[in-house]
Amino acid sequence: MISDVGILGLGKAVPNRILTNADLEAMVDTSDEWITTRTGIKQRYIADPEIAASDLGYEAALQALAAAGVKADELDLIIAATTTPDMPFPATACIIQDRLKAKGAAAFDLAAACSGFIYGLEVGRTMVKAGYQRVLVIGVDVISRLIDYSDRSTCVLFGDGAGAAVLGPVETGYGIIASEIGADGSGAGLLHVPAGGSRMPAQLETIENKSHYVKMSGSEVFKFAVRVICDSSNRVLEKAGTACSEVSWFVPHQANVRIIKAAADRLNIDRERIYVNVDRYGNTSAASIPIALTELDEAGQLKSGDLVLLVGFGAGLTWGSALVRWGGMIL
Ligand code: COA
Repeated sequence: MISDVGILGLGKAVPNRILTNADLEAMVDTSDEWITTRTGIKQRYIADPEIAASDLGYEAALQALAAAGVKADELDLIIAATTTPDMPFPATACIIQDRLKAKGAAAFDLAAACSGFIYGLEVGRTMVKAGYQRVLVIGVDVISRLIDYSDRSTCVLFGDGAGAAVLGPVETGYGIIASEIGADGSGAGLLHVPAGGSRMPAQLETIENKSHYVKMSGSEVFKFAVRVICDSSNRVLEKAGTACSEVSWFVPHQANVRIIKAAADRLNIDRERIYVNVDRYGNTSAASIPIALTELDEAGQLKSGDLVLLVGFGAGLTWGSALVRWGGMIL
């Protein structure tokens, strides 16, 4: 029987250029030792000036389609979760739709910052249920374009990348078996880019004041992240009637290894079941969870029947979780 919605194929893409902690030592007053102990990050990928979100999103999408065995013209919908679109409009999803030649697909962008991929999964899941049989969800951010590389408190954290998943019907009992998304807009000021929108359009003054860059209250966001990872995970596990001990892989948003460890300790998840790659990518915003999932898949670490818990959090403030039972593909 076919009635649930699952991930049929995954893909990822990162730019060629690597920015190491040693490179950052030459740019701001920081050290490899500080960055490693406070964040776990050793390097991140940074897009060259000619690379935009649609370029990385397109590469990840091609890979996901190939892995799913789905042709672009079979897609019914493309969702690009991004806060760094190529331009205010058209949607980056439309630019990718054109490059894929996915003529039959509707396309729109979704702005939920680092929670974007989980939001995209949830919207995609409900759209498949509503009859859109093949939905491509892309999480992509060229977040380096919003980073002030003279601000040591933010520039060490982020990197660019894209990840994608093709969603479709799977056998009953597989796929996304429980999920939630949430927001608390009262925390909007804790992580934001003040200028560049309709409140404060880009102009000489905003450039001079560096208001078009990410501003963040690091320790507040840290506390929010640990709390929300635990609360959201527990709610989704409860919805599914499953215990944390049943989870094969815990794949949280990759922002800081200390956030991941603190949350995992509270949830009582052993280290071997937690997927961490923040050391190699930094925080790639909406791309971090699908990049991690793609790596797990490529390494042959996702077995049919495995329970995979995905948890995202980010600006908004937003969060979301999805518990996925791997497999159940309909051949
Ligand atoms: N190198 C060296 N020193 C740095 C630094 C850097 N790159 N960045 C900040 N510091 C300094 C600070 O200026 C501060 O110095 P002071 O005590 O003289 O004022 C000191 O290090 C401690 O800063 P603090 O902010 O308390 O450190 P922290 O342990 O909270 O770590 C973060 C800072 C940003 C790594 C951490 O708060 C964090 O990861 N927060 C969450 C961020 C996040 O994930 N955002 C995205 C969410 S999607």
